Amino acid sequence: MRTLQSIVAIALFALVAFPAGAAAQVPENPTFADDIAPIFYESCVNCHRPGEIAPMSLISYQDARPWARSIRNKVETRAMPPWHLDQDIGVQDFLNDPSLSDDQIATIVKWVDTGAPQGNPANTPKPPEFAPADAWQIGEPDLVVQFPTHTVPAAGPDLFGDLFTDFGLSQDRYITAIQTKPVGDKARQVVHHALSYAVEQDEDGERMGGGQFLVEYASGKQAEIYPEGTGLMLPADSEARLSYHLHSIGEDIDAVVELGINFLPEGEEPEHIRYSKQLAGSHGRTIGVLDIPSGEVSRSDGYARFNKAAKITMFQPHMHMLGVYQCIEFIYPTQPVRAETVNCARFDYNWHMNYNYSEDSMPLIPAGTILHTTTWFDNSSGNRGNVDPNNWVGAGQRTVDEMGFAWIGWYDLTDEEYEAEVAARQEARERTDDDN
Ligand code: HEC
Repeated sequence: MRTLQSIVAIALFALVAFPAGAAAQVPENPTFADDIAPIFYESCVNCHRPGEIAPMSLISYQDARPWARSIRNKVETRAMPPWHLDQDIGVQDFLNDPSLSDDQIATIVKWVDTGAPQGNPANTPKPPEFAPADAWQIGEPDLVVQFPTHTVPAAGPDLFGDLFTDFGLSQDRYITAIQTKPVGDKARQVVHHALSYAVEQDEDGERMGGGQFLVEYASGKQAEIYPEGTGLMLPADSEARLSYHLHSIGEDIDAVVELGINFLPEGEEPEHIRYSKQLAGSHGRTIGVLDIPSGEVSRSDGYARFNKAAKITMFQPHMHMLGVYQCIEFIYPTQPVRAETVNCARFDYNWHMNYNYSEDSMPLIPAGTILHTTTWFDNSSGNRGNVDPNNWVGAGQRTVDEMGFAWIGWYDLTDEEYEAEVAARQEARERTDDDN
């Protein structure tokens, strides 16, 4: 019989990602047509094209050329494409990692340094075709609910609040994929950020709290498709709540937001129920208490205990304007106790990035593991997002207050499932070792 400690040690070892083999090389004289357009088309133009969220198009040479210096800077510092994971620490194997390879970055840098030449225009590949910006990314949904229209005036302060609508379900269903969609170009511009929840009612018809979190909408993030075999329960008779953050864009806009949902067939239950929760804010609460002194960088710690064994599927740091960095660590219930930093990520309030682990890198944790988040806030004048470095800042809902917790996606495992998964990883690892 294996001891718990050795099982944990194996789980940890299986976390280490193998670096991907770098196949491409850096061309001698890179040109837009031959070398740069293929990179942009793969990694940039999903956002950098007319009508999308980025400020300029990178489709044609004429579009891209004026931005050469800025492009060099943004790719060299890995600010673009946005992926704020610290690549020197912890797990690096994710489903949705859009990062450029070192060779791709070197190619772009060389192209700019040699005058950003076009090359032979005839060699430029055909730009990719995109579905319309407001297409469903989850296929035609089984259920679409529309929230009441909220008119955003041409000018004014940011708007925060809640909109409600009924899901209209007479029995519990399990969600397999979900997407938030502002309807139309204009609505997309005014919806800064929106969270959806399922709210149940008590016997008196009173809403029971804020509800179960379903999905977040923010720049660069819309659809969530759950891992195979998992689902999130949407209770019968629950209401949909949209917690919105809207902003004005110079004309009156009717903001209409829809939720599209795919379900398992009626009556079917998933193998595992997928959770997504705000965990390990200060004092173990979501908002908690923060004490962020003026003019300096400070940190806050939070903890949450997993009572059951679990497979971690997703990590998403959450802070506001002063938040700059967050690490998640697991403290394992072993004798002697062991702790491991699993990931760290930089944070930028304009980007709410979520990091979905690939199947083989999803952290496996035994029952009793403690999640420890460490969150850093920069309240100095060196932080460009800082409205007033002379002010103390505390915890709260407003954008100018702070938060410091992690969204964690996971599903529970029985102790037997946990041991079996750990053993399977161990075996896969031994096979890889034999091949080398
Ligand atoms: C997920 C969407 C997205 C992707 C993918 C993306 N960008 Fe961006 N990019 C943006 C947005 C939005 C901005 C403006 C806000 C900001 O800078 O964060 C931006 C800003 C920039 C800027 C700065 C423009 C300025 O005002 O100086 C450059 C340069 C840039 N991107 C280049 C790239 C390149 C090159 C790639 C691909 C290798 C890329 N981006 C991929 C969304 C994206």
